[in-house]
Amino acid sequence: MDMFEIEGSRRLSGEIAVNGSKNAALPIMAAALLTQEPVRLSDVPDLSDIRNMQKLLTELGCAVERTGKHDCILHTTDTTESHARYDIVKTMRASVCVLGPLLAARGKARVSLPGGCAIGQRPIDLHLKGLEALGATFELEGGDVIGRVPGGRLRGNRIFLGGAFGSTVLGTANILSAAVLAQGTTVIESAACEPEIVDLANLLSAMGARITGAGSPRIVVEGVEQLGGGSHQIIPDRIEAGTFMVAAAITAGELTITNCPLDALMAATNCLEQIGVEVEALDDASSMRARVRVAGGRALRPCDITTQPHPGFPTDLQAQFMALLTLADGTSVITEKIFPERFLHVAELSRMGAQLFRQGPTAIVSGVRRLVGAPVMASDLRASAGLVLAGLAAEGTTRVLRVYHLDRGYEKLEERLAKVGARIKRVSEEE
Ligand code: EPZ
Repeated sequence: MDMFEIEGSRRLSGEIAVNGSKNAALPIMAAALLTQEPVRLSDVPDLSDIRNMQKLLTELGCAVERTGKHDCILHTTDTTESHARYDIVKTMRASVCVLGPLLAARGKARVSLPGGCAIGQRPIDLHLKGLEALGATFELEGGDVIGRVPGGRLRGNRIFLGGAFGSTVLGTANILSAAVLAQGTTVIESAACEPEIVDLANLLSAMGARITGAGSPRIVVEGVEQLGGGSHQIIPDRIEAGTFMVAAAITAGELTITNCPLDALMAATNCLEQIGVEVEALDDASSMRARVRVAGGRALRPCDITTQPHPGFPTDLQAQFMALLTLADGTSVITEKIFPERFLHVAELSRMGAQLFRQGPTAIVSGVRRLVGAPVMASDLRASAGLVLAGLAAEGTTRVLRVYHLDRGYEKLEERLAKVGARIKRVSEEE
């Protein structure tokens, strides 16, 4: 297993580019099951989650050919296999996004239930409720959800998709991907508004789907008989961009972030400004591919954060902002409203000298003057990112163990941070 070794207290400076979005790419790749024509994608990041999706799609009869570092062609040629096996699903919960496309295109699907997860309970009841409203039936057998479509074709319906924690991103992706081939009109109310849903809708529309309202809480889909192929460039990763912004801020550095989806990051940049970090669009601030200068000041002010569905503050940036606020001059309150157990980084940050007190879904962060390097580990991708950021700012050496969690969502993070001045290297834990 690999770890990162970080010598902290070094200001970052220079230019760093944001890669394509993992969370946009995953349901978009699954949408290639909806057609037997080729789907060409660019800006697909080279990550372990993406490789897992590639493996799953190949098993489901969709060949994935990498045509460049970040380009691929997906082509479904065999529709006989509809089983997403536990072996793959257990490595990546996003495997569940094949459920909607399989039911819509093949009238049947067998998807292993994902099971527990480091960031808390992650049920798929809303996915099933939405697909049932479109006419699918489900039963559970041997840990697998088996879905069938009596009559072979889904039927459009009106669906309220909100749950106790608000909208569901992959649930919306599943229902949207299923509704495009259903007979008649589907209305998805309380749909997720995340930019990744807009990106999926853009690809589906390029394939011939008829969708309005993506990006708003009400999406309307007029089902079509069949879809063709399409070409699509994946949007840049807003969470990676936000992580780079915090990297500049926490090291009192200055980064120019290119290919930055600034328009999708307003909640995060609003917090950064409150904290005293300069965020300046060097071109169009309403762009999803902006050039942005981020400069950390010497003094950081505290800030209260509550995670929410988009356009609220994203849960996937909570750990990174907590790392930053451990060094603020005062007390911040961070409340996690999407995944109330998503605090694996709290105990690890404390080992670096942070003063944190967690009660239920809230963490109180009392800023300290400095963090000190330590060996740390977290079994969640974004928690690990928070620890890397803390390590960049800490005095001495920080070792972030088990970076395979990070590799699920950040491509060669250590090489890219090293290019802007971080002293960080990947070493084997056995060494
Ligand atoms: C997506 O997960 C992302 N994953 C997550 O990113 C992200 O944290 C999350 O959305 C929230 O923004 C991908 O896109 C691959 P949800 P998803 O369904 O869609 C509850 C990362 O680090 N819920 O929007 O699975 C759920 O428990 C990952 O990149 C139900 O109750 O999340 C949660 O409280 C981690 N029933 C809330 O809804 C359901 O059927 C939102 O979850 C589905 C969800």
